[in-house]
Amino acid sequence: MPEPLMTVRDLHVAYGKKPILRGASFDVQAGECLTLLGANGSGKSTSLNAICGFVRPSSGSILLGGHDLAGLAPHQIFQHGVAQVSQKRDLFPDLMVADNLRLGAMRRGGKDAAQTLEQVYDRFPRLAERRKQATRTLSGGEQQMVAIGRALMSRPRLLLLDEPSGGLSPEFCEEIAQLMDGLKTDGVTMLMVEQNLKLAFRAADRFIVLRDGLVVDGGNVKAMEGNHDAIIKNIYL
Ligand SMILES: Nc1ncnc2c1ncn2[C@@H]1O[C@H](COP(=O)(O)OP(=O)(O)O)[C@@H](O)[C@H]1O
Ligand SMILES: [Mg+2]
Repeated sequence: MPEPLMTVRDLHVAYGKKPILRGASFDVQAGECLTLLGANGSGKSTSLNAICGFVRPSSGSILLGGHDLAGLAPHQIFQHGVAQVSQKRDLFPDLMVADNLRLGAMRRGGKDAAQTLEQVYDRFPRLAERRKQATRTLSGGEQQMVAIGRALMSRPRLLLLDEPSGGLSPEFCEEIAQLMDGLKTDGVTMLMVEQNLKLAFRAADRFIVLRDGLVVDGGNVKAMEGNHDAIIKNIYL
């Protein structure tokens, strides 16, 4: 196994006195798509938020390229190349699509922003057509594309995706799956939370399961040959 891109070790996160992560450990390999599974409230979003700095871990380490990100501020972690597409998407509804996208280029001081923007438009022709529209006038699926496109504008080393198919129609789920195939082809490393197991297993190379604040299961998606029942039991029982 090559050296992982990111190594999470013994991560603890609590909200007040309520522990959510209680020693979670896992690796993310460069170029893979890893899916984080777990029941509602098991701490999937909390894990992504701890990695990108939106919540502060009480202990543990998050090593990326020789730096420990645990406890750094979100803008510092973004500078290290971690971009999150959060569950709420966090777009500026009144800004044009193009302006929401350009905001993502700030990590790199706007360097090559025009070129990167054209690459995002190549990936999302729907956004190219709507570049001058106010973002609030787009459908939910198109807004999800803006959120992903904005994260890609930073050319992240690690892309965190929190339920990318959340609230979207089956057609958009398929589009998201195809998009993720394209990102993988281009070598983008992804850590994804996804409740839609069809999409989760379609897009992921590997999965891990979070329960009681720990990683309790994990494996290679292809090696399962479509037999997901045992994992689903492990998530929900
Ligand atoms: N900011 C917060 N303050 C207090 N409790 C929170 C906060 N965010 C999440 N929680 C609680 O922590 C638990 C894990 O939440 P979350 O990580 O969002 O779960 P998941 O994404 O796996 O559904 C839930 O019980 C949730 O209610
Ligand atoms: Mg969540």
